[in-house]
Amino acid sequence: MTNRKILVTSALPYANGPIHIGHLVEYIQTDIWARFQKLRGHQCYYVCADDAHGTPIMLRAQKEGLTPETLIARFHTEHQADFADFAIGFDNYYSTHSDENQYLSNLIYKGLKDGGYIERRTIRQFYDPVEKMFLPDRFIRGECPKCGAKDQYGDSCEICSKTYNPTELKNPVSAISGAKPIEKESEHLFVNLSNFETMLQEWTGSGTLQPEVLHKIKEWFETGLQAWDISREAPYFGFEIPDEPGKYFYVWLDAPIGYMASFKNLCDKQQLDFDEFWGADSQAELYHFIGKDIIYFHTLFWPAMLSAGGFRKPTAVFVHGFLTVDGQKMSKSRGTFINARTYLNHLNPEYLRYYFAAKLSNGVDDIDLNLEDFLQRVNSDLVGKVVNIASRCAGFISKRFNGELASTLHDQGLYQELIDAGDNIAKAYEKRDYNKAVRDIMALADRANQYINEQKPWVIAKQADKEGDLQAVCSQGLNLFRVLMGYLAPILPLMTEQVETFLATSVSWQPAPLLGHKINVFKPLMRRVEQKQIDAMIAEAAKKDIVTSAKQQSEVKASSESEFIDYDEFSKIDLRIARIVKAEQVEGAHKLLHLVLDVGEEKPRSVFAGIKDAYAPEELTGRLTVMVANLAPRKMRFGVSEGMVLAAGPGKKEIFLVSPDEGAKPGMRVK
Ligand code: 2FM
Ligand code: ZN
Repeated sequence: MTNRKILVTSALPYANGPIHIGHLVEYIQTDIWARFQKLRGHQCYYVCADDAHGTPIMLRAQKEGLTPETLIARFHTEHQADFADFAIGFDNYYSTHSDENQYLSNLIYKGLKDGGYIERRTIRQFYDPVEKMFLPDRFIRGECPKCGAKDQYGDSCEICSKTYNPTELKNPVSAISGAKPIEKESEHLFVNLSNFETMLQEWTGSGTLQPEVLHKIKEWFETGLQAWDISREAPYFGFEIPDEPGKYFYVWLDAPIGYMASFKNLCDKQQLDFDEFWGADSQAELYHFIGKDIIYFHTLFWPAMLSAGGFRKPTAVFVHGFLTVDGQKMSKSRGTFINARTYLNHLNPEYLRYYFAAKLSNGVDDIDLNLEDFLQRVNSDLVGKVVNIASRCAGFISKRFNGELASTLHDQGLYQELIDAGDNIAKAYEKRDYNKAVRDIMALADRANQYINEQKPWVIAKQADKEGDLQAVCSQGLNLFRVLMGYLAPILPLMTEQVETFLATSVSWQPAPLLGHKINVFKPLMRRVEQKQIDAMIAEAAKKDIVTSAKQQSEVKASSESEFIDYDEFSKIDLRIARIVKAEQVEGAHKLLHLVLDVGEEKPRSVFAGIKDAYAPEELTGRLTVMVANLAPRKMRFGVSEGMVLAAGPGKKEIFLVSPDEGAKPGMRVK
């Protein structure tokens, strides 16, 4: 077997949201492949990073009153913990907001510029006059030009699915400030993708892509390659373009360069040769695992950027489908939008690694997590078949033979049968046909169990003259188990570690038998999944959503254990009668009014309330209401809000402010 040099990546998750089980399809798929390559003795590196730039990250940080650097640092820590707990074994996990990435982005941009591939064009876009920024399509809302549905995004309608230009929207507003956007011109930098057409035709057609993906790309070639807008105007969180003050690289320019930057960072830590993997004449293999939504970026823009920068192109791009849960899109209200952490709070990560492996093929079809099947499959395959082999044999070896395995194999032929099956299992892994690998491995587990059923060690154990046979049969069983664990190691790295401790040896691919060797006492390797764990996870996922939205609106902490709060919790809320002494419009806000409230304290409270559609300021001045007086002050875009007034109703015009009877005095506590 020749030693290959392989670099593997997964798509970089955005640094403004948690990792969820949909993301995990890809990280688990890639991790299994990288672990498989390493297990087979190849020099393989798996790198990834947070995708840290762009407008949504900048705005979220702003909303939370944080710098973008603080926000991305928080998600970096969170993401790394989630990945580590799912045993995703990155060799390096970095960030696109790094010196290496800025250096490489500038270098590739220089290649594009020097090669004459950059073109300047003046474009007209919506601009928020309050925030003083150009608005990305997703930050413009308005009425659909086709069906008239209200409150639709600037690029497509969620009701009739039409796609359009933001300028076609009726009554557009900025989703950031609520202001009416104006159209404004600015100069952008474009990469002329059609200059790369010959190279791209050749590269995409040279076995780098799955047939379904190639089919899609042919359609894109037929439609014609459009120039790609790679610049964004300030304010923007990203890298400023050299010699273009106030212009920044669009996040999708520096995101894939983040693969290189993460690897560069690893090279510096481990004295590896960067050029050996990325140089134009590199002999190393380079693979990107991605979802089907980002094919265009990875198969057209990315190879163009690499070639202009003088780097090698990917050996292949491996595309997978999306995850559905119980046959449907993940849904917050159904509790099936499950974050990595929510899953980990209830279930063993290797259940999911195994289940995804059992479902994954090398195609681009979506995969379904059917929760009933998940429970069934993990329990019957992993606990019922694999772990069962070890648990049926280990006790006898410890108790009757002082932990010592027999010195010869009882059934050499059967052992060899399992070893020989390894070549086809390896082929399946290599092709990312994990479902086939799992099927083959489980068939071998059935063979091992069949052997034990036939030999009946529990019967031999009762026969005084059969000591030698008992040791031989149980040693055979444990050796078969060890071969199987070698095949499962890429999928179950955590259980593999436990098995290595138990067997006091390494688990490897197609090992020589373990004879006359002393093992440790067996401890249960994996528990059965129970329905109540799944139910609790779903309940938490459904509740998380309610808690989060309540939090966003009021910062009231909901108890996550129960539907009820106890009296002590209730009594912590300081509800007070308040008189609205002043009510006024907030410039640029589309939902808020600013209220000044007398709550019987020396200093009146300043509160922002989302009741603009329901009340004119003059209707409110002088009237009584109820406020939460001990809500932590909250920094909002327009100032600090020092409490919350109580109102009910579905929203817009239908909001009703709570009003106490006459006679109530500002400052009275509600009891
Ligand atoms: O689609 C996404 O989630 C992007 N953050 C993926 C980036 S992959 C790579 F190009 F960086
Ligand atoms: Zn519509």
